[in-house]
Amino acid sequence: MKILVINGPNLNMLGIREPAIYGSQTYNDLIEMIRLEADKMGVETEFVQSNHEGDLVDAIQSAYNRCDGIIINPAAYTHTSVAILDAVKSVGVPTVEVHISDPDTREEFRKLSYIRLGCIATVKGKGFAGYIEALHILAGK
Ligand code: DQA
Repeated sequence: MKILVINGPNLNMLGIREPAIYGSQTYNDLIEMIRLEADKMGVETEFVQSNHEGDLVDAIQSAYNRCDGIIINPAAYTHTSVAILDAVKSVGVPTVEVHISDPDTREEFRKLSYIRLGCIATVKGKGFAGYIEALHILAGK
């Protein structure tokens, strides 16, 4: 089983950006944590982080006929991007939406998630552990 883990804008700044919300661990810490758990599960992983919407669309399209699942935190594009939703719907690869914080309990504009419409599950507000939960959701499919 191969799972593509995609992180959107500003998630490369984990550990620096708003630590009260996102914690003090870095993007590399996150990748290491996911890789460790995936190895234990016998799941192959691939990681993409980009600050650019089109790169995220390209990454999703790259999963077509190649990956068995996608874990995606589109970050701010969650709340704006129909293109990312359409990409997920295009490839038909089971996708889980993850957020480190719980956007539904923050500002009003964070309550709308376009990508949710194309996902089999959403994990939010559980910190980095949310990505591990997403791995298990996809592996259980
Ligand atoms: C986020 C929540 C989004 O609202 C925000 O724009 C992010 C990160 C999260 O992981 O909690 O950049 O997706």
